[in-house]
Amino acid sequence: MSKLTLDRILQSQGFGTRKWCRELIAEGEVTIAGETVTDYRAAFEADGLVFTLFDEEWIYREHVYIALNKPANFECSRKPSHHPGVLTILPEQFTWRDVQPVGRLDHDTTGLLLMSDDGAFIHAQSSPKRHIPKIYAATTHDPVTPELIRQLLGGVQLHDEPAPLAAQRCVMLDAHRLEIVLEQGKYHQVKRMLAAAGNHCTALRRTAIGGLLLDALELDEGEWCYLSDAELALLVPD
Ligand code: URA
Repeated sequence: MSKLTLDRILQSQGFGTRKWCRELIAEGEVTIAGETVTDYRAAFEADGLVFTLFDEEWIYREHVYIALNKPANFECSRKPSHHPGVLTILPEQFTWRDVQPVGRLDHDTTGLLLMSDDGAFIHAQSSPKRHIPKIYAATTHDPVTPELIRQLLGGVQLHDEPAPLAAQRCVMLDAHRLEIVLEQGKYHQVKRMLAAAGNHCTALRRTAIGGLLLDALELDEGEWCYLSDAELALLVPD
């Protein structure tokens, strides 16, 4: 990768406009390898560059790949209307660099949500052709029965779908909870499938995407982390 000037580096990482980044640099807010750099034209090999801004350490990343343990009462839409957007949970510069949720969870659904500013990644992860399983733990109003599981595995007809939709896997967790695995990501799919099977979903949590398990990331609700290459590889179907 070619070298980039420091103002471009800061701007690419979401720290504001080029003009603003130049001001930060001139004011001595940026340190690299222990040296304060005040010339915005100073050029650095950007990949993996470690810099300190406002006494906080950052690593240059061409793109960010983030896992968030989404709490309830946050919206995934770009223009949230009734609840704050999930981006408000992340540091402000992620909004500047146009980080977006990969797919959507309902405002009351909790659990694993991927976020990125890599359009190709978002597109690939969202593509129905990739068949990436999404694993949910659903709490039900009425008890989980063998008949309910049978219906979800056999396929249920939703109003605006041309054909019945079936769970790839579905197991009872306890009297009022089941684990359901879906390959599609239709609007309110779990809730609508449960309703179509005669029950009602009272709480929903996404516990895994592909082989990436939320529990393995050890994030409390509202916490997020960068995903490593090894973790990203778990999202690719076998
Ligand atoms: N299915 C739903 O009903 N809601 C979600 O948020 C995700 C899957």
